[in-house]
Amino acid sequence: MTDHQQDPLYLQAIAEIAAVADINTLNEVKARYVGRSGVFYKRLREIGNLPKEQRAEAGAMTNAIRLAIEQLLNDKKDALTASDTLVRLAKENIDVTLPGRTGGGGAVHPLQQTIQRAVAILSTCGFAVAEGPEIESDYYNFTALNQPPEHPARSMQDTFYFADGSLLRTHTSPVQIRYMENNKDNLPIRAVSPGRVYRRDHDSTHSPMFHQIEGLWIDEQVTFADLKGVLAHFFRAFFADDSIVVRFRPSFFPFTEPSAECDIRRGDNGKWLEVGGCGMVHPSVLSAGGIDSSRYQGFAFGMGIERLAMLYYQISDIRSFFENDIRFLAQFKQ
Ligand code: DAH
Repeated sequence: MTDHQQDPLYLQAIAEIAAVADINTLNEVKARYVGRSGVFYKRLREIGNLPKEQRAEAGAMTNAIRLAIEQLLNDKKDALTASDTLVRLAKENIDVTLPGRTGGGGAVHPLQQTIQRAVAILSTCGFAVAEGPEIESDYYNFTALNQPPEHPARSMQDTFYFADGSLLRTHTSPVQIRYMENNKDNLPIRAVSPGRVYRRDHDSTHSPMFHQIEGLWIDEQVTFADLKGVLAHFFRAFFADDSIVVRFRPSFFPFTEPSAECDIRRGDNGKWLEVGGCGMVHPSVLSAGGIDSSRYQGFAFGMGIERLAMLYYQISDIRSFFENDIRFLAQFKQ
């Protein structure tokens, strides 16, 4: 042990420095010991008052204490800084092992999947895809389809009208007229037209906006039997079930003659389910499309996409399709 280690000034400094817990207090202690007006300088000045022969030893001793105290102060400062850094690191800790937040993969809506399935099947039968506008004229939506302004069948398809008389189309049938107009010199024609349609309806099986898929085949000898064959093939492929049988019930549509409601049944003892309307295209409709009805004939059909999807996925409320509930939609992720 060297002498300065027993010096009361040194011992007191050790104790004080050891008790310091933060940088500010340490700076205070430092000023009090080795600062300009600190204890230490006071002591150096007092050396001048000592007898000459004692001065050298007292000077050496005081310097040793000063160096030792400065060393202690520096060590303490390093220790405090290091622990400050540790505390800060602990506080600002970022856990890089947390998995990132992903947006979740998107998926095709079940109704679009249904349209894609239906179109894929009909494409293999030679039907080309045709689209038409959702804002339609009264002429294409009704008049050209053999439903003149006062026709009573119009009241079954009330819709949303614009001030200029155009309307939100109530079915995909107007695309029949548009397609015939565009392809009247390009016969025979086979077209399928999926899309949105609108009506003033809203309950568990009707939505004011829904989807249909329309089929049209015009040639010189297309018959009612072809219609039934195409539909039977379609439903068996769509539901992946060869036990499906198709039944036509006599019905009325202004744009077809004869007209039928199409029902399907799965297996021998299943229930008959209505899946769409169909018929032989009315001669007036062919004429409206610019086609010679004395030479050409054909069939048309229209089905509700929601209805097909509800049967296929066994969904009981049509509104589920439009609520955008991720828990519902995620079930149809492919
Ligand atoms: N357009 C009819 C509707 O929305 C459905 C329909 C029936 C379409 C018979 C057709 C058809 O092409 O031939 O109620």
